[in-house]
Amino acid sequence: MCAASLADSIERYAARRLCRRCWWAVCLAGLLVLGQGPCAGAPDGTPEWAPDGSGERVLGPEINAYYHGADVGRWRQTFESPGREVFDRRVEIVRALGLQPGMVVADVGAGTGLYSMLFAHAVGPTGRVYAVDISASFIEAISARAADYQVDNLVPVRNDPRSVQLPEASVDLIFSADTYHHFEFPRAMLASIHRVLRPNGVLALIDFHRIPGISSPWIMGHVRAGREQVIAEVEAAGFELWDEPLTLQSNYFLRFRKRLSASGTDGD
Ligand SMILES: C[S@@+](CC[C@H](N)C(=O)[O-])C[C@H]1O[C@@H](n2cnc3c(N)ncnc32)[C@H](O)[C@@H]1O
Repeated sequence: MCAASLADSIERYAARRLCRRCWWAVCLAGLLVLGQGPCAGAPDGTPEWAPDGSGERVLGPEINAYYHGADVGRWRQTFESPGREVFDRRVEIVRALGLQPGMVVADVGAGTGLYSMLFAHAVGPTGRVYAVDISASFIEAISARAADYQVDNLVPVRNDPRSVQLPEASVDLIFSADTYHHFEFPRAMLASIHRVLRPNGVLALIDFHRIPGISSPWIMGHVRAGREQVIAEVEAAGFELWDEPLTLQSNYFLRFRKRLSASGTDGD
């Protein structure tokens, strides 16, 4: 088998496995919603999961279940193989972010570290990259990868599904690729991202287009919200849409800035 067709079969195999797992995750999430109704509630008494969307939780933990205790080698093949748009266009995407030496960047939902490693190179030894993920397996693998390549400015952070768990006002750019649709608590995550960004900080989001009648049944089932809804949710969290630095095909790529109040101060 030639190299191109081998790569092609690996990619198709990986996509099939991913779809199958995601489909099960969607089915389980559906069962949870139908069978369980509202959860007992968050510690402060607000409902964690409300069917009308007023609760904080919008997705069950099943959406991320397959990342915990993950076979990282297999996921690396899935995330870092040709045919995945955010892999194929990674160089353009990083270039479009305009990273400078010395910047502090957080890669939220870092996965296998594809972007964290590229960012670490771009910000140089005076900068810092936080590779943030809720999966301990991914965080361990990123630590090992950074050690193997002697990348000293990469800091792996295992967070929880509600918070990025970084110091307040400490980060210039928060980047998140194909992860927003995995946020179980998008409102809490966005509030945390807002707190962690410096006043002139930027949030860069890449996620799948979800267009009824056009997107595949898998996207329609797996991805909770389309571009317009995501923009509305992020703006409601105190950001304003800045630009779309690069046009992608299966994904959109948006940049937001923290909204400043009328007085020009941080609009918290
Ligand atoms: C589809 S993968 C994308 C990985 C990587 N960004 C990439 O594009 O290769 C989604 C990742 O988001 C992580 N994740 C889900 N919810 C998260 C949250 N609230 N905070 C941080 N990471 C999260 C998952 O563990 C998983 O690694």
